[in-house]
Amino acid sequence: MSEIGVFEFKGKRYEFPVEIGTENEIAIEIKRLRGDTGGIITLDPGFKNTGSCKSEITFLNGEKGILRHRGYAIEDLAKKASFLEVAYLIIFGELPTQEQFAKFEADIKKNTLVNEEIKDILDGFPRAAHPMGVLSSLTSALTAFNPEYTDVHSEEEMYDAITKILGKFPVLAAWAHSKNEGAPLNYADNSLDYIENILMMMYKVPTTAYKGNPIVKKAMEQLLILHQDHEQNCSTSTVRLVGSSHASLFASISAGVSALWGPLHGGANQAVIEMLEEIIKGGGDVEKYIAKAKDKNDPFRLMGFGHRVYKNFDPRALLIKESADAVLADLGIADPTLEVAKHLEEVALNDPYFKERKLFPNVDFYSGIIYRALGIPVEMFTVMFAIGRLPGWIAQWKEMRMNNEPIGRPRQLYIGKTKRDYKTMSER
Ligand code: CMC
Repeated sequence: MSEIGVFEFKGKRYEFPVEIGTENEIAIEIKRLRGDTGGIITLDPGFKNTGSCKSEITFLNGEKGILRHRGYAIEDLAKKASFLEVAYLIIFGELPTQEQFAKFEADIKKNTLVNEEIKDILDGFPRAAHPMGVLSSLTSALTAFNPEYTDVHSEEEMYDAITKILGKFPVLAAWAHSKNEGAPLNYADNSLDYIENILMMMYKVPTTAYKGNPIVKKAMEQLLILHQDHEQNCSTSTVRLVGSSHASLFASISAGVSALWGPLHGGANQAVIEMLEEIIKGGGDVEKYIAKAKDKNDPFRLMGFGHRVYKNFDPRALLIKESADAVLADLGIADPTLEVAKHLEEVALNDPYFKERKLFPNVDFYSGIIYRALGIPVEMFTVMFAIGRLPGWIAQWKEMRMNNEPIGRPRQLYIGKTKRDYKTMSER
């Protein structure tokens, strides 16, 4: 027998179907609420309790600290698979066979050139422009160079749009970095793999042969895999919402980049390093910052701590902490921010304020330390997150369009003035 959810209001009883997911999550489906009740809606700012869609991509249990993509544990994927293998899995639903993988990689490589006129657009930005703003704008500009409409019900057209954005996005990200540095723009080298290419495009200088570092590449690959998808977070919901108006994949991804930029979302990795550096500069007084974070009159928050969904350890943070230790040791770097971060974590995890609110380190707490060890400048941290998140945005956009989801259009509870008469300026 299927379950029902019951809602009673002013002596009337309304019944709603209950849906149960494959991991036994329960959702009351309230599609008919407004119609049946003659106008009642739900109010849920920040969508803390609202499921916006059904999805087969990622399962996340914040209480138990579980993250799986298409059924595979993030721990396995991060340690055993390559970035593009995980991307294929997330986007198409299954791990690729050797043949499928070879084709996917080759098709992405066919798309690693962007139109030369993009350079003119890049020229127009001030050199100090934040690379996230540049990346968002250039991704949006791709729509001008690729204006053709994608028929999402054509497997071939969808595949073409997907391989196109996977090929071009890292070029734009690397160019955003080169612009900041005043460095020459590099083209992709299709003899390199996806991750090596990103690093090469960011760091190669024309005067010297580029030599990659396998430790850096491995650490970067793992970090980017950990960022690939995280179900209906702010930027992903943005991508789905923009795409629900049938805006193109590129336009939707560009909106996702903007959403990711904020310090409460992907921008937190930059904010964490800035916070750790400030603590060091101020003499390393960790307790002072913990007190600031707890003070309700102080807007300061402990960056890299807390999560909307995880009320336990973020499994990605555990993997990243492990990796931070290994990468710094492998590269022979002694970074004082790692020591401060560990101290901060220890103090916070033993403090009743953080314990009661179930605030644990999130994915961004240690990732900046690794990025820095790998030579990535602070302004580029969130750009790296965006490169990592790209397959997730694509997969979610594709799922939303394939499921013919309706245009996203929330309701509101109006609390403004009721009807009043217009007064001419002299009467006011
Ligand atoms: N420092 C101090 N207090 C905090 C923090 C923090 N980092 N995070 C949450 N709290 C407190 C908050 O003040 C509130 O206290 P009270 O119940 O007394 O009012 C309580 O914990 C619940 O917080 P919330 O703001 O209602 O929780 P939320 O789910 O709306 O916000 C969050 C989640 C991630 C935005 C928030 O924890 C935060 O601002 N963290 C710092 C920024 C950060 O690290 N963001 C990265 C998130 S993970 C990666 C990503 O999404 O890109």
